Amino acid sequence: MSNIKASGKLKATRFQNFPLYLSMRFTIIFWLWRCVKLGKVLVTAAWPYINHVPHLGNLLPILSADVIARYYRLKGYEVLFVSGSDEHGTPIEIEAIRQNISPKELTDRNHEIVSTLFRKWAISFDNYTRTESPVHKEFVRNLMLKIERNGYIFTREDELPFCPKCQRFLPDRFVEGRCPYCGYERARGDQCEQCGRLLEPAKLGEPRCAICGASPAMRTVMHWYFDMPKFEDKLLAYIEGNRQLSDNARNFSLNLLKEGLKPRPITRDNKWGIPAPFKDAGDKTIYVWFDAVLGYVSATIEYFKMHGHSEKWKDYWFNKDSKTLYFIGKDNIPFHTLIFPALLMATHEDYNLPWNVCTNEWLIFAGQKSSKSRRIGVWIDEALEMFPVDYWRYALISIRPETKDSDFTWKIFIEKVNSDLNDTLGNFIHRTLKFINTYFYSEVPKPTDLDELDKSVLNAIVEKVKSVNDALSNFQLQLALRESVELSRIGNRYFNDKKPWETIKADLRVTANTLYVSAQIVKALSILLEPFIPFTANKIRDLLNLPEKISWDDAVKSMQAGHKIKNAEPLFSKIEASEDELQEHLEKVRSSSEKISMEDFSRLDLRVGKIIKVESVPKSQNLLKLTIDVGGGNLKTAVAGIAKYYGTEDLEGRYIVVVTNLKPRRIFGVESEVMILAAQDGEKVVFIQPEKPISPGSKVS
Ligand code: MF3
Ligand code: ZN
Repeated sequence: MSNIKASGKLKATRFQNFPLYLSMRFTIIFWLWRCVKLGKVLVTAAWPYINHVPHLGNLLPILSADVIARYYRLKGYEVLFVSGSDEHGTPIEIEAIRQNISPKELTDRNHEIVSTLFRKWAISFDNYTRTESPVHKEFVRNLMLKIERNGYIFTREDELPFCPKCQRFLPDRFVEGRCPYCGYERARGDQCEQCGRLLEPAKLGEPRCAICGASPAMRTVMHWYFDMPKFEDKLLAYIEGNRQLSDNARNFSLNLLKEGLKPRPITRDNKWGIPAPFKDAGDKTIYVWFDAVLGYVSATIEYFKMHGHSEKWKDYWFNKDSKTLYFIGKDNIPFHTLIFPALLMATHEDYNLPWNVCTNEWLIFAGQKSSKSRRIGVWIDEALEMFPVDYWRYALISIRPETKDSDFTWKIFIEKVNSDLNDTLGNFIHRTLKFINTYFYSEVPKPTDLDELDKSVLNAIVEKVKSVNDALSNFQLQLALRESVELSRIGNRYFNDKKPWETIKADLRVTANTLYVSAQIVKALSILLEPFIPFTANKIRDLLNLPEKISWDDAVKSMQAGHKIKNAEPLFSKIEASEDELQEHLEKVRSSSEKISMEDFSRLDLRVGKIIKVESVPKSQNLLKLTIDVGGGNLKTAVAGIAKYYGTEDLEGRYIVVVTNLKPRRIFGVESEVMILAAQDGEKVVFIQPEKPISPGSKVS
C-alpha cells in the first residue's frame, strides 16, 4: 500500500478506478479475515496396513477423508491432508513369511504400488508417507523417551505365549484363539474382530500359533508398559467435552473407560518394527499401534520439512484454532480416541487432541466379508481396470456405511451408474449444453422477465448448495451426495416442464430463460460434485469453459449472459452388462493380474495322452466324450467342448496334452477326469500336440 501512496501516477489511477480499488481492498481484507477465522484443518485417514493392496472397504476412510479435504479446500480453509503406509506389525510380518521375502521387500514393493493407486483414485494427499520414513522413526523414538522421562512407562514381567516349533514369541496376530469377551473362535492376540475389544494374547482360549498351528507354551519375559490408567480422568473429560465425536466413537470409548483402562505393553519381541529406544530394551521393537498413530504428527512434520518450513507443523498441532480430523474404520476407535490422545497428553506439551474421529461401518460384498483368500470383494486395482474412477467414487460414497454395514452388489453398482450418473446427472447436463450449442451459438442466453418457476429454480440452487454444505460440515457424506444429485433431478424436471424444444419454435425469450437457469444449475453442479467425483466435475467446468480453480461460494454465482461454452460431450456411459457378466469380468481381470508362483505351476501334472475313443454326449451340441490313454494303458475320460471344431473321426489316435491331477467334475452327467490343452483364437480352437511321437504318459514340463 505504501508504494501506491508514494506514486502520484498510481494515485490518479486509484481514484479513477475508485470502485474497483475499493472492492479489491474489501476482497483482500475479507479474504484475510476469513483465513484467520477459518484457520487450519489437518485431515487424516487411517494408515492402511501395506501387506496387501487395499480392497474397496479398506479404501472407505481414505476416500471419505479425501471428500472432506476437497470440501474444506473449496471453503477456503488451509488444509493439510496426510496419511501413509502402516508398514510394521504382525500383519506385515505374517504376509512376508507367507511370500518368503523380507518384510522390507514386501512393504517397499507395496508402498510403491499403493501410492500410485491412490493417485489414480484422485486421493488428494499432501503427504502420503510411510512408517519406515526416517522422520517418523526419529519422532516416535524421541516421543517414547519423553513420555518415559515424564513417568508414564514402566517395565513388568509377564507370561506370554511362545511357539516351541517356530522358536519365537507370539505377539498380536501371531496367535489366535477364543475371545474371552464374546467367544469368537478366531480372535487375534491384539484385538477381536467380532466385538472390537482389545485383547492380550495370554487371555485367548485355546491359543494356537498363526504360522504353524502349534499350541504355544507360556514363557516369562519383560516388557515396557504405557501407564494408561493415569489418563483415565483426562480422557473422560476429553471424550465428554468433544461435541463432534460420532455416537459410536463416543459410546465405545465411554464403555472402555467405564470398565477401567489397563496398562498397555508397548514393546514387542519382533525384529520388524521401530527399535525400542529404552535402556536395556535390547532388540525389542515398538508395538505397531503406538508407532502408527504417531504418524499423523510425523507426517505433518515431514511435509513442512520437505517444503522448507521446519516449524510450521506446530500451527496444526498446537494452535488452538486448528482442527485435526480423523477418518477410520470402526475397529480403529480405541486407538484414536484413547491411546493416541493419551500418548499426546503424556508429552506434557499441549498437543491438539482429535477434534473429530469419523468412523465408518463395514462394506460387505453380497452379504459376505471381503477375503483375499476366498476371493470375496473387489480390490482397488481391479476396480479401476473395470470402470472409470468416478463411477466407483460415486457408488462407494452413495452406499457409504455410516450408521450400519452396507452391502455392495453389482446390481446396486449398475443402478447407481445407469440411473443416477447417466440418466439423471449426465442427461441433464448434456441436454442443457447441447441445447445452448445448437440454438444459442454456444453462449449462455440472456434472461429477461423470469417467471415464477424460473425464479423458484434459481432459489432451489441456493437452497441445495446450502443443504449440501450443511451435510458436509456434519460429515454426512452420503446425504451430501444425494442432495447434489437431487439438484440435477430438479433440473431435469424443470427442463421437462419448460419444454424448450417446443418453446424454441414460438418464444425465444422463454427458451432463453429456461437455458439461462439450466446453465446455472450445471455450474453449481460442477462445484458441488468436485469433492465426490473430481474428474467429472473438472470435465463439466471445462465444457462450461470455466477456470479450473474455484471456490465453494462460486456455486451460487451466476454465469453471465454471453459466456461462451464448449461443445457438449457425454460424461458417462451406461453399463450394458448383467450382474453375472460384471462378476465374470472381475474374475477375468483378477486372473490376468494374478501371478502364480513356480511352485503353483509345478503342482499341475501335465502328461502326453493318446485319444483312444470319441463319443458324443447325449443332449449336448458341443461336447464330446474322449477316452484317453494317459500312460501304460491307464484310461481317463475327458469331456470337452470341441464338437464344433473337430469331427469324431479326426480325433482317434491323436497325441495331445492333458492335465491329469484335477478334481473330477460332472458335465452333462458324464464324469470328466482330465482336461485337454488347446489354444483358442476367437472361434478357432486347436489342440496342443507333441512335435514328434512320444509315448503316452510322458511328463510335460
Ligand atoms: N493399519 C491400521 C489398520 O489398517 C490402521 C492404522 S491407523 C494409524 O487397521 F493411526 F495407526 F495410523
Ligand atoms: Zn509356530
